[in-house]
Amino acid sequence: MMTSKATAPGKLIILGEHAVVYGKPAVALAIDKTFTCTVQKSDTMYLNNNNVNLDAHPHIKTILEIHGMKNAAITTESMIPPSSGLGSSAALSVALSAAVRKHLGKEIDEKEISKEAFEAEYTAQGRASPIDTSCSTHGKGVALNCPKNMGKHLWTLSKNSQTWDVSEVPIPNMTFVVGYTGIRAATGPLVEKVRKFREHNKFASDIVDEIGDITIEGMKAMNDNDIEKLGRIMTQDHKLLSILGVSCDELNKFVNASLPYSYGAKLTGSGGGGSMIALTDKPELVCEAIKLRGGQPFVVKTGVDGVSIDF
Ligand code: PMV
Repeated sequence: MMTSKATAPGKLIILGEHAVVYGKPAVALAIDKTFTCTVQKSDTMYLNNNNVNLDAHPHIKTILEIHGMKNAAITTESMIPPSSGLGSSAALSVALSAAVRKHLGKEIDEKEISKEAFEAEYTAQGRASPIDTSCSTHGKGVALNCPKNMGKHLWTLSKNSQTWDVSEVPIPNMTFVVGYTGIRAATGPLVEKVRKFREHNKFASDIVDEIGDITIEGMKAMNDNDIEKLGRIMTQDHKLLSILGVSCDELNKFVNASLPYSYGAKLTGSGGGGSMIALTDKPELVCEAIKLRGGQPFVVKTGVDGVSIDF
């Protein structure tokens, strides 16, 4: 039987998470940890050879519904730990959208894939931005709502009253260490926590604006190849995200332990657990420092290609 297969990368958000949900800018880099999906025709719904109810798998349910498919035999294989802040659900949605399109003989169009994957994230999370799904689709370095002269415009997405211009941005040569806490933290509740805080507290909405402002500063630093400045801004971003209430003891511990050997460090993705990143030219020392405090460190390659059809 014909099998359609696609692979999509995870991502690191280097600046702007959470604030991007409110239309502020953000930057993400695709990483060499990937998610692969296969799709085959089937009269019954199978996920990894098990008969499943799709209500427990909202990302998959949304993608299949968009394409009018009731059932399929889907398999998944992932190098990205779930709920780790590294974009596993976005990569699943992007890879599945591409595999389904291949299966149905539809065009493999980046904008359409990213739109469908964003719809899946939005439905599953209750609220979302397209930063993860855009980066997983296009790969390389992707910015949302960056100043016009800093990137190559790819496409624009809107949802409710928010609009995001998606651009590819050039990325300097940088080394990142990821420190995974091993704590699974779902994105939806953290996004909801920030929504409530921001809605009821002017101070919190000012913090969200400030994250937007320093993200633009960080984009300029990246554009000028000023890695030291970018690092300082990342650390500042971590402090602002902590004030918003999305960090945790483990993330703070790993950030502090990494700082003596890094240009900067911060949580990445939704936080509450998940992962932090350090921008460094001493990856071995950073890995050692994170490991000593009970974290799982690894060096990632960034700027890799986006979604691809596997033959
Ligand atoms: O933790 P992740 O990989 O799901 O990243 C979420 C990024 C947020 O800005 C917190 C939410 C979003 O949809 O943009």
